Amino acid sequence: MNAPNESEVRSFMQYGHFDDARKEYVITTPNTPLPWINYLGSEDFFGMISNTGGGYAFYRDAKLQRLLRYRYNSVPADVGGRFYYIKERGKAAWSPAFLPTKTPLDAYECRHGLGYTTFLSEKDGLAAELTLFVPIGETCELHDLTLTNRGTLEKRVQIYGCMEWCLWNAVDDAQNYQRNLNIAESEVEPSTIYHVTEYRERRNHYAYYGVNAETSGFDTDRNTFLGHMGDWSAPRAVAEETSYASHITGWYPIACHRLDVTLAPGGSVRACFVLGYGENPKDAKWDADGRVRKDTARRVLAKFADSAAVDAARAELAAYWDRLLSSYRLVSPNEKLNRMANIWHQYQCMVTFNMSRSASYYETGTGRGMGFRDSCQDLFGFVHMVPERARERIIDIASIQFADGSTYHQYQPLTKRGNADIGSGFNDDPLWLVAAAVCYIKETGDFAVLEHPTPFNNKPGSEAPLLEHLRRSVGYIRSHLGPHGLPLIGRADWNDCLNLNCFSETSGESFQTSGPSEGPVAESVFIAAMYVKYAAEYAELLEQVGYEAESVSVRLSVQEMERAVLKHGWDGAWFRRAYDAFGDPVGSKECDEGRIFIEPQGFCVMAGIGVETGEAKKALDSTREHLLGEYGVELLVPCYTRYRKELGEISSYPPGFKENGSVFCHNNPWIVCAEAVIGRGNEAFDVYKRICPAYLEDKSDVHETEPYCYSQTVTGRASGNPGHAKNSWLTGTASWSFVSLSQAILGVKPDYDGLRVEPCLPDELDEYTVERRFRGCLYRIHVKKTGEQSLTVDGKRADRIPLQDRETVTVEVTV
Ligand code: BGC
Ligand code: NOJ
Repeated sequence: MNAPNESEVRSFMQYGHFDDARKEYVITTPNTPLPWINYLGSEDFFGMISNTGGGYAFYRDAKLQRLLRYRYNSVPADVGGRFYYIKERGKAAWSPAFLPTKTPLDAYECRHGLGYTTFLSEKDGLAAELTLFVPIGETCELHDLTLTNRGTLEKRVQIYGCMEWCLWNAVDDAQNYQRNLNIAESEVEPSTIYHVTEYRERRNHYAYYGVNAETSGFDTDRNTFLGHMGDWSAPRAVAEETSYASHITGWYPIACHRLDVTLAPGGSVRACFVLGYGENPKDAKWDADGRVRKDTARRVLAKFADSAAVDAARAELAAYWDRLLSSYRLVSPNEKLNRMANIWHQYQCMVTFNMSRSASYYETGTGRGMGFRDSCQDLFGFVHMVPERARERIIDIASIQFADGSTYHQYQPLTKRGNADIGSGFNDDPLWLVAAAVCYIKETGDFAVLEHPTPFNNKPGSEAPLLEHLRRSVGYIRSHLGPHGLPLIGRADWNDCLNLNCFSETSGESFQTSGPSEGPVAESVFIAAMYVKYAAEYAELLEQVGYEAESVSVRLSVQEMERAVLKHGWDGAWFRRAYDAFGDPVGSKECDEGRIFIEPQGFCVMAGIGVETGEAKKALDSTREHLLGEYGVELLVPCYTRYRKELGEISSYPPGFKENGSVFCHNNPWIVCAEAVIGRGNEAFDVYKRICPAYLEDKSDVHETEPYCYSQTVTGRASGNPGHAKNSWLTGTASWSFVSLSQAILGVKPDYDGLRVEPCLPDELDEYTVERRFRGCLYRIHVKKTGEQSLTVDGKRADRIPLQDRETVTVEVTV
């Protein structure tokens, strides 16, 4: 019989399963279709780790302060990261995470949990347990390794732990070799290696890699360690069961420790490796004998010298996540929904809040920092977990706004300054700030944030209350309208690739930054819908804080915009997408390709446009008829088959890819929310499930990305190969999906004066309880489908749940 080819093997293979009790995804083979990764760290120090141990780590900023080198376009994809080798005398070396050695293992399991990853593997009677995580409050990773002899004979084993340093700036690191190969420096102390490249000049930070055990050898020079023509799968030092005590200057710096252990049958050894970041005051960089001051590293290494401290840090991390997740908990008969609501939705929301679109396996961490619109939307799914951090984020974002209400499109997480390379001109951006602020205040009741003195473009002296920023956001849209009274699109709106003012004919040129930032004609129906939704929310906020007259004027402008949408944005059976620079409609039956787009259908209906008059329902029916495929709602049909310079990047992708008609997951929850607006629970839930990772687990061999998080895009039908996901983790789908489930379907919505409960349920869900922590009180909300509408709060009838000053409140809802 012929050996099955790889795709045949895959389709019979299970890659893993959820372990809900432990809040983990358990991967049972290293041979996943793509690296399936996890994130470590929740505040300043972050790492990514794949199911084969790959990934990189950085302090605050993946571009500017990177600790571990990552190989772009590497083959296999995942060479890089944290290299661990186990070498039993005379036998082949193996890695607890399978890579880099690729030695077949007798047992392998990778458990991705909340902020940690554990590898459990076994080879020839030796069992390894390796857990990696970032302890709360510290700027380091712990790699906690236990090795146990399960055999009957004594084993003499060498353990190698090895990190390859990135020379801090990841862009320079990947390109400026003429300098790079001359600058590396390190310092070696017993059990700790310090990476101090550029410290002698303008840096005041260093990295370190230590271990709480006595070492038998070390190396800091990569070439010495790997050997001539060597690679990570089989370093010379490991093969020779030795170390060379190499001291690097220049070339490629690494940190490698060797531990020699003898394990009696049943015996085990535990060692905790620490990969850390330390910083010194600029004027106190050196110690008395002229060496790098190492106070931070010493303190952290001393703290984790004892395994009990490592255990305590693990427990603290678990408690941290329990606390975060306790703000929202679903108890329902639907296992998949519980799993998503209680674990993976919220987890991914935390990750996108932290990373925006900066660092993943698909965002290289060298380009985009924090996106203005992205970070505003990420907040929707995060705000209930740590409202204080959401508040800080809103101020950071508002601080890159210009005085005229327009904004920088991105900012660098380290400097928090707007990114001048991309600049401004994305005309949807200002309204997302309004959306984020309203969402934050509804969650917290913190109206005081509106007074917060917030600069424009970070210029000292330009501070104005946050409310003024919101005012200018709204004002910017009002004062930038086109011929149909719809908002001018600028460089692009939410769809970065619909570039109606770009007209690029030069290859390599950025569609986002070339051409004029604004044309006087091209308009966006999408921004119009955003205006109807978010300017109305702004008007309501104004009423809350006593600006009645302004509120009335804003509301009038909202009505006017709504009329403009119904007049010029309605195409007969769906909403149009835009008008191009010639005033021709985009996303209309008049077009030969790109006749219907998803975004305006979702957003117009969410804004309430055409709900009374029937357009909303028609638009959603058309969406189902034309755009719905097995894997979700596609962005547009028919896909563009040739490049159209008047439309820009959208037509640069092959049909069915990315913005040219893939399932661009981010906007699917808009359809879910829209369906809920018109009360169609079954349709809402149907769309929710089509892109939901937990519902796609058994299609992993097609879907390919991690079954525990959303991806940005899934190839559409026109690709000829639908269902392949790409760009997992950093997508606005995270927050919007959580919102669509928790608010649109399950119906628990924070409002200024309490919680509202307005479920829109599918037939398959009759009853559930949501435990929601809201402004200091735990609401236990039990919802049951009876056919009658009622709501009682601790036994008393009400129309919404007013704010309570008790600790727990029981709410009964029937629908
Ligand atoms: C991508 C978009 C992305 C944009 C901005 C485009 O190439 O297709 O999804 O938002 O670049 O970086
Ligand atoms: C990815 C970007 O991060 C997001 O801001 C944008 O809306 C989508 N691409 C759609 O183009």
